[in-house]
Amino acid sequence: MDAFHYKNKELFCEDVAVREIAEKIKTPVFIYSETYLKQQFLDFSKTFPEKHIVCFAIKANNNLSILKLFSNLGSGADIVSGGELYISKKANIPSSKIVFAGIGKEDWEIEYALDKEILMFNVESLSELNKISKIACSKKKKARIAVRVNPEIDPKTHPYISTGLKKNKFGVSYDEALNIYQHAKNLSCIDVAGIHFHIGSQLTDLSPLRESSEKIAQLVLKLKEKDINIRYIDVGGGLGITYKDEKIPPLNEYKKAIVSAFSPLKDEIVWVFEPGRFLAGNSAILVVKILYKKENGAKKFLITNGGMNDLIRPALYNAYHEILPVITKKRNKEKVDVVGPICESCDFLAQERFIEDVEEGEYLAVFSCGAYGFSMSSNYNARLKACEVLVNGKNWRIIRRRESLEDLTAYETD
Ligand code: LLP
Repeated sequence: MDAFHYKNKELFCEDVAVREIAEKIKTPVFIYSETYLKQQFLDFSKTFPEKHIVCFAIKANNNLSILKLFSNLGSGADIVSGGELYISKKANIPSSKIVFAGIGKEDWEIEYALDKEILMFNVESLSELNKISKIACSKKKKARIAVRVNPEIDPKTHPYISTGLKKNKFGVSYDEALNIYQHAKNLSCIDVAGIHFHIGSQLTDLSPLRESSEKIAQLVLKLKEKDINIRYIDVGGGLGITYKDEKIPPLNEYKKAIVSAFSPLKDEIVWVFEPGRFLAGNSAILVVKILYKKENGAKKFLITNGGMNDLIRPALYNAYHEILPVITKKRNKEKVDVVGPICESCDFLAQERFIEDVEEGEYLAVFSCGAYGFSMSSNYNARLKACEVLVNGKNWRIIRRRESLEDLTAYETD
């Protein structure tokens, strides 16, 4: 389904006119479709009748209402910090469905995760493994772990969001993995439970995933020969979405690319998936208001009240987000840069984009903002973080209030 559609030239989220929300609670505002989020989760989950856990990658979006919605559908969480563990627990995500990745886990985070009895730590180095073992022993606990193995395969995505290449900082190298597993097996406070790999994000081509799965399956079989029996295969996240015209492989193809390689092991394993963008990316728009129109030499600018502090993806990755007026009027298109109010030249939402010739005061919708949108936003230039709204049918509610001026200094001491 599409979360957004035009009715009589006016943009709607489900059955609510976007303009109505923008007028009532001002902009910038992220507007999410509950029905779309649910549908994405259910579509993803039902693709895998095999035993599996979907652990939503909460770095993509950690709004409590959205996490609760996923949690009610049976979701777990892929976390990368103690902060994300705290939020997951507040959203009632069961510990038995929480996996903890990240190359820089601090002692307190490891302790916290052990206390909460999460499903497993996705271990990213030998030193980290030893640290987890030591802390688990000191608590007289056994820590379940998976080793994050770097399949060393090019995921063919943006270099900033590739993680499975030899030069990337993530995971342990493929050649080293066997030794690390053997070492782990001999640690009395470690339970070797799984294997983890994640090669990158916004994947649109399945072949790197297929190759990685084959390499990892070979490793799992080698481990079996050494009497190390893997129970959880955690394949990470990474499935892409359409921002512009990318063709996304259907879920059953995605499944085949991963699952086929593991068929000799199929009765013994539980799958863990960590989708982020696929579940939430196209669930939301960011609505901004055009403050000024301006021409500078050869360029035309639409200056909006939303910028890189609200949505950093264009500035950081030169990412494309579709931008359309909330009310369309079939006007001529103009080539413009859509920019924010931040004092940085990279503060743009789109560059050299053909957009209907809109007026000052109109609203623009920036699409595909449900993942890595609000969660990457900041207070740069002392701007207030945006409001978030969840729509369900004809109803909508604020799920995060707009920040206030007082919030800006709330953590400081004189
Ligand atoms: N699992 C692990 C271990 C990850 O590192 C990530 C994302 C995911 C799962 C979820 O990946 P997804 O299904 O969302 O592709 N800020 C960037 C994306 C960074 C992704 C980092 N890791 C962006 O806005 O494109």
